[in-house]
Amino acid sequence: QDELKRNVAMAAAEYALTCLQPESVLGVGTGSTVDFFIDAIAEHRHRFRAAVSSSERSTRRMRDLGIEVLDLNEVEEMPIYVDGADEIDHQLNMIKGGGGALTREKIVASVARRYICIVDESKVVERLGAFPLPVEVIPMARNVVSRRLRALGGQPVLREGFITDNGGEILDVAGLDIPAPAVLESHINDIPGVVGCGLFAISGADLALVSSQSGVRRMQR
Ligand code: A5P
Repeated sequence: QDELKRNVAMAAAEYALTCLQPESVLGVGTGSTVDFFIDAIAEHRHRFRAAVSSSERSTRRMRDLGIEVLDLNEVEEMPIYVDGADEIDHQLNMIKGGGGALTREKIVASVARRYICIVDESKVVERLGAFPLPVEVIPMARNVVSRRLRALGGQPVLREGFITDNGGEILDVAGLDIPAPAVLESHINDIPGVVGCGLFAISGADLALVSSQSGVRRMQR
């Protein structure tokens, strides 16, 4: 699995370098696949200006490797954002947030012109929903949001002992039927107390790089 993650991360680094200019800012996601991407891009850090990070974890890793990390408030545009996913379908809708960074990931991704998703083939699904959907909530709203998610057919479970970089909690919601990911995303976003939802469908990926034993292939909408 690590080899597949490393391969797709290397392919993404090559692709990213074709999109970046010396003045460009790169958007960087979070997770074990992205860790390999950070390692690969670090060798080429002089070919772009800096990065914006979607988590404290990625920020630490980039700074340790000498990549400058900017606050998103200092940045107006980004050619690309590179991140992993927990599930991705053939329309490039995704479930994200296994690492709990979904809210910052969605914010940073929204600034980038193109979202490049990097996964191994085990993440590609016909229909989203086998992976429990992470939903970030304001702690005081944990129970009211859980009731609303149960009414949608889900079984929310609090991620014990986990606090997000924003001070939120995560409900992992199993059992959801997701025939229309963008509709469900918007519905969950509208529940008071929800900070963010791990469905990335209203804005999905623009390109997915998928690694398997036979190499890295592209999936496009
Ligand atoms: C982090 O919150 C997630 O959205 C990750 O992008 C996702 O969980 C993929 O992580 P891995 O690359 O570790 O599987």
